[in-house]
Amino acid sequence: MTTFDDHERRRWAGRAHAYARSYARLCAYPAPMLLDAAGARSGARLVDVGTGPGTVGALAAARGATVTAVDAEASMITAARVARPDGRFVRAALPDLPFPDATFDAAVANFVINHVGDPRAAMAQLARVVRPGGHVAVTVWPYPQPPLQRLWGQAYAAAGGPLRPDLPRLAAENDFDRTPAGLTGLLRGAGLAAVRCETLSWVHRTDPDDWWAGPAGGIGQLGHLLVGAPAELRERVRKEYDRLTARYLDTDGLLGLPTSALLATGRVE
Ligand SMILES: C[S@@+](CC[C@H](N)C(=O)[O-])C[C@H]1O[C@@H](n2cnc3c(N)ncnc32)[C@H](O)[C@@H]1O
Repeated sequence: MTTFDDHERRRWAGRAHAYARSYARLCAYPAPMLLDAAGARSGARLVDVGTGPGTVGALAAARGATVTAVDAEASMITAARVARPDGRFVRAALPDLPFPDATFDAAVANFVINHVGDPRAAMAQLARVVRPGGHVAVTVWPYPQPPLQRLWGQAYAAAGGPLRPDLPRLAAENDFDRTPAGLTGLLRGAGLAAVRCETLSWVHRTDPDDWWAGPAGGIGQLGHLLVGAPAELRERVRKEYDRLTARYLDTDGLLGLPTSALLATGRVE
C-alpha cells in the first residue's frame, strides 16, 4: 500500500454519513450512463468497486444485474447495505480485488480511480476480474477543474488557509492526466480495447448547507484541509464559501453549480 492509499484509508474512515449528505448526490448523476457504458443489463454479473453508499450498485440491481459491491471503508458498506440488505458486499481495497480472473461481465468504479495510489494497477485489476468481451467503465473528475470543484480551493485560499505540502500526493510516475487523453491512456494501458471517453457536463443543484456538510465532515480536498484546522479558519472558509457561492444561488434557495466528469469505458480482450 502506498502512503497515498494509507492516507485515503484514514480520510474515508467513518465518513459515510458526511459523504451521503453531500458528494454522494453529486456522484449519482453519471450512474445511469456509467451502467449503460458497462453494458449492465438484466442478468449481468457486475462488480461496483468503491461503491460508497451504494448508489451505482443499487441502480444496477434495480436493472436486474447481479451485483457485488466492494469498498475499502466499513462505514460505506454499512450504509450501502441499507438499500440492499440482501446484496453481496466485500470489503477490499484496490488494487487488490479478491476475485478470480474473469468473474464478472462488467466492472464499474464511479469516482474511485482518483482515490487510489496506483491507478494503473487499479485499472489492471478491474480488467482482470472481467471476462473477455465484458466491459470496464469508470468516472473521474477532470482537470482543469469545473467551477463546482474549483470553488473549494478558492474559498480556502481567500480565507488565507495555509499551504499543506505535508499532505500526500500521488507519486508523479503513478499519476495520469485528468483529461480524455489521459484517462483513455490509462484504460488502454490496462489492455482494454475499443476505449471511449466522454465529458459529461451538468449543473448540480444542492442546498448550501448540505453541500458544505461535505468538507465540514472531512470529505474531499477541502475536507482534508479542514480536518484539525483551527475553528477560526474553518469559520473564515465558510464565510468565503457563502460569498463565492452567492452568484450560484437560485431563487428557491438552492445552489446550481456547473460541473463535469470524464466517463471512460473499454472492452476486455
Ligand atoms: C468518491 S467516493 C465514490 C462512491 C460511489 N462510487 C459513488 O458513486 O457515490 C469513493 C469511494 O471509494 C472508496 N475507496 C477509496 N479508495 C479505495 C480503494 N483503494 N479500493 C476500494 N474502495 C476505495 C471510498 O471508501 C469511497 O467509498
